[in-house]
Amino acid sequence: MHSPSLPTALLSSINRAGQDHVLRFWNTLDASARDRLAGQLAAIDWDMFRELQRLARASGPGVVAGAAATLAADLARATTPPCQRLGGDDAERAAAVGAKGLAAGHFGAVLVAGGQGSRLGCNGPKGVVPVGPLSGATLFDLLLGRLRGIAKRYGRPVPLAIMTSSATDADTRAWLADHDHGGLDPDHVLVFRQRDLPAVDDAGGNLLLDAPDRLAMAPDGHGGMLPALVGAGGLEWFADRGCRHVTTFQVDNPLTMPLHPEFLGHHLLHDAEFSTQVVLKREPGERVGVVASDGERTFVVEYSDLPAGLAAERGPGDRLRFHAGSIAVHAFALDFLRRASAAPDPLPLHVAHKAVPFLDASGARVSPRTPNAVKFERFIFDLMPLAHRVCLVEIDPAEGFAPLKNPPGAAADTLAHVQAALDAHARRILHRAGVVVAEGVGVELAPWILDEADLAAVIPPGSSIERPTVLGWSG
Ligand code: UD1
Repeated sequence: MHSPSLPTALLSSINRAGQDHVLRFWNTLDASARDRLAGQLAAIDWDMFRELQRLARASGPGVVAGAAATLAADLARATTPPCQRLGGDDAERAAAVGAKGLAAGHFGAVLVAGGQGSRLGCNGPKGVVPVGPLSGATLFDLLLGRLRGIAKRYGRPVPLAIMTSSATDADTRAWLADHDHGGLDPDHVLVFRQRDLPAVDDAGGNLLLDAPDRLAMAPDGHGGMLPALVGAGGLEWFADRGCRHVTTFQVDNPLTMPLHPEFLGHHLLHDAEFSTQVVLKREPGERVGVVASDGERTFVVEYSDLPAGLAAERGPGDRLRFHAGSIAVHAFALDFLRRASAAPDPLPLHVAHKAVPFLDASGARVSPRTPNAVKFERFIFDLMPLAHRVCLVEIDPAEGFAPLKNPPGAAADTLAHVQAALDAHARRILHRAGVVVAEGVGVELAPWILDEADLAAVIPPGSSIERPTVLGWSG
């Protein structure tokens, strides 16, 4: 009854898993629609699917699989590990060591850009959302522009790998092609795509149809970066370009400084396999993961997995017991990524209960308002317990953390908050360079202007800015 394009072995995998309902509309599909659905079904790892079903049936929200479950249980005796601080002890030495590493071309970068910004109501890649307060520059413009600034200052390009997902791949590639790769050398830009995993209904753990010829799927989390990068030959790609370490950063944070020389210097001075930037978490409700240690292993607990009681606990100086807020800016030794990727199943699956639209048995599309399904994600920070040496570096959020997460009107992390942070950051740099900006006048710096050292080429010290001004875009 089914098209010959559905191989018998695949058909029997589908039947054995009890998922033949996904072929309910098969007879109504034309050849190309059949091919599409067959392709999605063929890409499913049916052994893994059984594990997904088990997790979906067993799960409340939160981490349920593997090592991470043990770590969550260990939280009761965990504490916040010691942190270095940007501008703190050893700042000069760290900055010099990091700068030397940058000048030697030892650092590459991975931008995780598989997310769609659905919380912002945006369907395309989040990277194309305009955020520049005056210029309307997009997140991609600002993030790639920063890398141009680093390359300019240290005389070496920073190889950049950009992780996309099925939802963002085509638009991201088109953006790069239309925007001259953000001014970066195309030979130093690699685009690679993370995998999708099926979403399943949370009652029975069964596949859902998003359309007669399409399963409901979702990207496998930013932890999908490791297998996808390895699969794309990314570790060799970085090594071929002279890199020994890579930093990773998120597309939603235009102030981010993953290649800050002092951060990289601490990473090198500690001979760390995994370093991470943190901000002081002040309130229990802040939506940042926290870094914790049980004395043997250091790990990140996602905000949604941290029990409310523990999140609110305070210690000496009224600081939260878990106050090292992860901003998802990491540095990894390439050797560590090689070792981790060879470990069996290094990253556990996390489950998230979500409202996922689906076709019911009659073919009507249902758009639930409350969670009806489970999506699965891996988190890159779950590599932390595998690292022999971990280094935490606290940064001032005003200098490096202004994420765009929420639609207008929310209490934090909206476009207005991001733009205010960019404006304040630009004003501080201008002020340090002796440039006077009239009160209430908007000002923006091109992203390659990393600090006041870059300003001299753009505006003489002692100048005044009297009307809204964007500085340095042509540079
Ligand atoms: C994330 C972190 C949180 C951290 C906060 C800081 C996780 C799970 N949580 O929360 O600990 O404190 O950022 O801003 O990391 N992405 C992909 N592919 C995916 C999923 C996400 O590339 O499959 C990318 C997104 O494009 C984005 C980033 O990962 O760049 C963060 O994803 P998001 O789901 O928005 O995490 P948050 O809840 O904001």
